[in-house]
Amino acid sequence: MSQDPLSSHYDSEDIAGRILAALRAAQGADVPVTAEALAPLDHFHGRGPAATTEMATRLDPQEGERILDIGSGIGGPARWMAARFGCHVTGIDLMPAFCRAAEALNAATGLGARVRILEGSAIDLPFAAASFDRAYSQNVLMNIADKARFFHEALRVLKPGGLFAVSCLGAGPEGAPFYPLPWASTPAASFLSSPEETRQDVLAAGFEILRFEDRTEAALASQRKLLEGLERNGLPALGWHVFMGAERSVELQANTARSYLAGRLTSVEVLVRRSG
Ligand SMILES: C[S@@+](CC[C@H](N)C(=O)[O-])C[C@H]1O[C@@H](n2cnc3c(N)ncnc32)[C@H](O)[C@@H]1O
Repeated sequence: MSQDPLSSHYDSEDIAGRILAALRAAQGADVPVTAEALAPLDHFHGRGPAATTEMATRLDPQEGERILDIGSGIGGPARWMAARFGCHVTGIDLMPAFCRAAEALNAATGLGARVRILEGSAIDLPFAAASFDRAYSQNVLMNIADKARFFHEALRVLKPGGLFAVSCLGAGPEGAPFYPLPWASTPAASFLSSPEETRQDVLAAGFEILRFEDRTEAALASQRKLLEGLERNGLPALGWHVFMGAERSVELQANTARSYLAGRLTSVEVLVRRSG
């Protein structure tokens, strides 16, 4: 059966098994399986746990709060937030293989009671209104065609006064990026907005903007370094290439860097609030 463009891009077998095997091969059979130890492998976005740390600083989750991770991937950021801040995180993701991996890694890290994973869509969230104290979404918006529904749904499930942190890549001024990219093998699964379009989308949904940062300049510097490192040393032992495929991931990362350097990608980090 032929798959839709998103599934054929992300679908993969035994993700958790391969991640645990890679961790043990790199750090020994007795390595404690913690959110921290898995972080180089299971934060599926540029700059991995460093980017999650910065996002968490903006979002400022509090112990015991209910947090929603929209497009939670294999659950690395959700486990990391729960472990570090003592909050309850619900992750929702469209990909069954990612949800299965997230659940297996929740069990392996002993975080199953504080991290719940649901298979479902960001544009049709299966939660009652005002269910969450805070929410975040890292590098998901590029897969979402209907941005208005994405932001509408995020606003609906947040409590009044709740914060939403979003980071995403977007369209650059110099034309389409070079595919395949980490979130899409072809343009069929990629929906890129310019920073200004993203700003208009969050405002149109009714959010109040607390911070809106165009991070493209900072991304250029780190992408240049990443490309040099890839060309000189290849991939590090641990990374999301363990489940996306090593050979393919070199191309995905190199295309991201080249697209940024050619002015074909941008990056924004946004913190918004549902008015209380
Ligand atoms: C690049 S990954 C980022 C994963 C995760 N946020 C992280 O940073 O580790 C993008 C994720 O968005 C998910 N996704 C794409 N479209 C979605 C949708 N409509 N609803 C829920 N998840 C979606 C994909 O399945 C994938 O897990």
